[in-house]
Amino acid sequence: MSTLPTTFPETIPDKLNWLKDRYWKFGQDFELAGHLEGLFEPDEDGQMTAQPCIDPLTGEAKGVMLIAGSEWGKTALIRRALRSSRVLTEHHVDQPGNTLLVTAPPTATLKKLAEMILEQTGYAKVDSRMRGADAWELVIHRLGLIGIKLVIIDECHHLLTSGPGKDVPSAIQSLKHIMQSKSGVALMIAGVPALRDAIKSEPTRETYRRFTECTFSPILLRTQMARDFNANFSRCAQVMGVSVPEEDMFVERILFASDGHIGTSVVIAKAILRDAVIKRRDTLSLHQAEQVYRKLKKKATGETPFKQNEWSVVEKELTVLGWAA
Ligand SMILES: Nc1ncnc2c1ncn2[C@@H]1O[C@H](COP(=O)(O)OP(=O)(O)O)[C@@H](O)[C@H]1O
Ligand SMILES: [Mg+2]
Repeated sequence: MSTLPTTFPETIPDKLNWLKDRYWKFGQDFELAGHLEGLFEPDEDGQMTAQPCIDPLTGEAKGVMLIAGSEWGKTALIRRALRSSRVLTEHHVDQPGNTLLVTAPPTATLKKLAEMILEQTGYAKVDSRMRGADAWELVIHRLGLIGIKLVIIDECHHLLTSGPGKDVPSAIQSLKHIMQSKSGVALMIAGVPALRDAIKSEPTRETYRRFTECTFSPILLRTQMARDFNANFSRCAQVMGVSVPEEDMFVERILFASDGHIGTSVVIAKAILRDAVIKRRDTLSLHQAEQVYRKLKKKATGETPFKQNEWSVVEKELTVLGWAA
């Protein structure tokens, strides 16, 4: 979020829709953009093109892995990166583009994921007897045929956890095959830290070597990220028409409540603002925030970071209690 809207939403539904759509920046988008730029050739002005960098000696493209815990905002970040890119366009069956985004379901086998990609590329006639590795070869052929330059596999750890019908070494090889495809296709995989561990488990580390790694740090107080969080929160509150009493230290409390976790902190902050809008309050209160937080976290009893007392006192109490987000 960088600018205020030119006209503020007025009705409650308009305000809530506006708030729901806001993407909060903490520099993570900039960080990912840097990694993506590393996968593609620059143009004369140094701007990224959609042409993957190919190593002339090996003919291979490169990859980036986006690693962070669950609910950190990986999916939100990927979608944001696609929306804001000048050169990457998401491919849909009815609207061709150069980037294919697929989300691995929890039960994903190589074959299942191959079928999903084939379907997304308009190829629906997969023979049920086809082996996973063959279906994957077909995927690579299709990607070249329809001009895909970047494949993004979200929740990729699902593909690499062992389970019935799963073959982790083959799945790792298949990821490498995408980057080795003749047509030149870059790869982004996103998932929880177990994804990195799985890729590293390959004895030769050949696949791991081909990726750069993009991770998030938590939002720590007194850092630029915390200042960005504060700016995002204040702007949203302003557009919602809700004032935030400075002495209540909402930002500190929200970051404590979420342990600086990017996704959770935004979710809590937006839920507090949303509730104030619905109840037509023009000022945030700790009492109201505590109720919202209890509902969100299903914590009916016990102390919360939104206790109505001075923040420094509450923080000490909670720390002594060993309170955990
Ligand atoms: N930068 C952000 N701005 C606004 N909302 C965000 C941001 N990052 C995450 N969220 C919200 O946090 C929640 C979790 O994000 P998500 O992208 O699903 O996490 P992950 O994919 O890492 O599990 C979602 O409701 C998402 O909308
Ligand atoms: Mg996700």
